[in-house]
Amino acid sequence: MEDSTASTHNTASTHNTASAGKGDVAIAARCKEIEVASPSRKYSVYVGNRCVDKISGIIPEDARQVVVVTQREIEIELDLGREYSTVFVSQGEEAKSVKSLERVCKSFVECGLTRRGVVIALGGGVVTDLAGFAASIYHRGVPCINVSTSLLGQVDAAIGGKTGINLEEGKNLIGTFSQPLGVICDISHLESLPQLEMLSGYGEIAKYALLGLGNLEKYSLEEQVAKCVYLKASIVSEDELEQTGKRAVLNYGHTLGHAIEACSLLGSSQTDMENQPIRHGVAVGIGLIFAGKLAHRLGRIDDARLARHYEVVRNYGLMESIPKEIEPDELVQFMANDKKSMFAKGDGLNFVLDGEKGVELVTGIDTKLVRGLLEEMYSR
Ligand SMILES: NC(=O)c1ccc[n+]([C@@H]2O[C@H](COP(=O)([O-])OP(=O)(O)OC[C@H]3O[C@@H](n4cnc5c(N)ncnc54)[C@H](O)[C@@H]3O)[C@@H](O)[C@H]2O)c1
Repeated sequence: MEDSTASTHNTASTHNTASAGKGDVAIAARCKEIEVASPSRKYSVYVGNRCVDKISGIIPEDARQVVVVTQREIEIELDLGREYSTVFVSQGEEAKSVKSLERVCKSFVECGLTRRGVVIALGGGVVTDLAGFAASIYHRGVPCINVSTSLLGQVDAAIGGKTGINLEEGKNLIGTFSQPLGVICDISHLESLPQLEMLSGYGEIAKYALLGLGNLEKYSLEEQVAKCVYLKASIVSEDELEQTGKRAVLNYGHTLGHAIEACSLLGSSQTDMENQPIRHGVAVGIGLIFAGKLAHRLGRIDDARLARHYEVVRNYGLMESIPKEIEPDELVQFMANDKKSMFAKGDGLNFVLDGEKGVELVTGIDTKLVRGLLEEMYSR
């Protein structure tokens, strides 16, 4: 589908977000501020209901231009108290293409964006990945603010500075590490998010629960998001550029998850609960079960810990079996190719696995063992 990036318009807002009434004070108090202290930039992530007001404090006062990148389907209007331009991009992974990137950059030119301006990415992971990447290379780098509107984006994609686009050869093959000026996770923005996308976000939340956040399910959605953001922020602050292996734990459940998602997108006719390609977080949910089973088989975790993997995935209403249309050999092949991106070492496959020392990267796992376990992951 064609992007509609070329169509830009100017929206002037006359509202002053700084003028807070009594109600606004209460809202501000409910908003949580979490710091990401990465070496290249310290910034805040705001989590809360209607915390989008915080954006006026993130936009530099002397910003000459503001360009909002979003999708038409996301009907969220920003009240910035100043003039800004809007650039629309298409939906889905195809928006993260080289062509689409070129269109976004050309739209930046049309909007008169300079290095003294600022880009606001208003959307889910597709928008923040694409807009963040475009901003990081346009004029050799324009600052970007993420206003994340999907659950998956709020707990994961919008935080940590990974930006990027896809090539036909694979996802996120071109990109930068470029930390945003700040991130807004306004829980009220999730009210319009389709159910399937919520479920995808829950897949990532399930990952955080198993990474050490424990019984997350008992908290409100806002608290769950804040706790996940806090964990991601602390990991990113320690290993911003994914050099020490610490950030690799965020890939828990992702080795098989990526493979399922890719096979589903490649049209092996796989669909999920609503006859659609498997969503990222839903695939991660299946990947978490697999990672639990593999760790258990390797003697790294006990029965209770494996049972906890099932419990978390079920509590969030996620899938636990591999859809029958996806062949195990296809998955093994994909995981073998994918391992290049994960500190590859020796033969066999690499997985992030739970164990006595917590979740860590384990290399060189026997492909036959993996193949056999995959067979057990199909519903009968
Ligand atoms: N950079 C990172 O660290 C990182 C981490 C995880 C995932 N990602 C990337 O994130 C992308 C997936 O992100 P996603 O799950 O947010 O998907 P997405 O951005 O495609 O959003 C899902 C759908 O929801 C719609 N949508 C978003 N917010 C909405 C709202 N408030 N109301 C109504 N509709 C709304 C979008 O238009 C889209 O159709 C993938 O490309 C993945 O590679 C990046």
